[in-house]
Amino acid sequence: MAHLLELTQQGDPGTIVDESQLDKIQLQNPQQLYELWERQQWQAHGIDLSRDPADWQALSDDEREYILWGLSSFFIGEERVTTQFSGLVMAYEDQSEEAYLATQQVDEARHTQFFGRYYDQVFSIGGGIDAQLERVREHVNDAFVRLFDEVLVAENKRLIADPSDRGAKIDFITTYMMVIEGTLALTGQYTITTFLERRGILPGFIEGFQNISRDEHRHVAYGTWYLQQAVRRDRSVGERVQAKLAELLPIAAEVLVPPGCSLEDEWEMFGFTRSEVHGYAFQALSRRMKAIGLGIPQLV
Ligand SMILES: [Fe+2]
Ligand SMILES: [Fe+2]
Repeated sequence: MAHLLELTQQGDPGTIVDESQLDKIQLQNPQQLYELWERQQWQAHGIDLSRDPADWQALSDDEREYILWGLSSFFIGEERVTTQFSGLVMAYEDQSEEAYLATQQVDEARHTQFFGRYYDQVFSIGGGIDAQLERVREHVNDAFVRLFDEVLVAENKRLIADPSDRGAKIDFITTYMMVIEGTLALTGQYTITTFLERRGILPGFIEGFQNISRDEHRHVAYGTWYLQQAVRRDRSVGERVQAKLAELLPIAAEVLVPPGCSLEDEWEMFGFTRSEVHGYAFQALSRRMKAIGLGIPQLV
């Protein structure tokens, strides 16, 4: 029953894949992703939440606490990735990329708004987004704080200080799109959505979360495209991406550990075993890395 770090031993040994494979993988570019964004609009304040409060009240205290833990990491994460995104918008290299990046910052703000509305109307935790975030902070672990409040914040500051610093841009995109979105968010969305669908509860949340998930796939697609292009131009970029993954995957593995458990325990999360959760995360990241033309570095 392997966890994320052990899986890196079993996967691709970290070598760059055959060059001839790279050209076969065509990704959507920022102009196409911008146009896709125009077709995929939704309203955080327009989703019907009328059935959710009764479902929520019918759950046990333990179930409510558990769901609150899972959702609060997302709520705080969405605020972090909204406010720590400006450096990347400043680092655009052409008009299409700028247009795309502007849409992503709006998306992240919309995701935060959805959680704010949901906590207020369904969980009765109100007072505005800042007050809500302060209240739900108790649910996140030390690894989460390290990744979202320290690493992400520092990398955004580096880009703001010098938006033309391509190394800083590679680091930021690896942290944000490959680790935070491509490994953690996609896994959390899959497990939580599947859990709620199996239970047949909180349909308003599921609808909003599915819209968020569709947006996140677009965001990860941008990061994958950018890194693929950067590696094609300069193979040394691949080593930089892998070094950043080697630094952050041990932290990411700890983020995906439920309260009161350790990485080594055989825990369950939303009905999935540790090895299923970490297996999903590893596969999500591996797919993107393969499209970029890289393997995942071995970590243990
Ligand atoms: Fe988001
Ligand atoms: Fe996102």
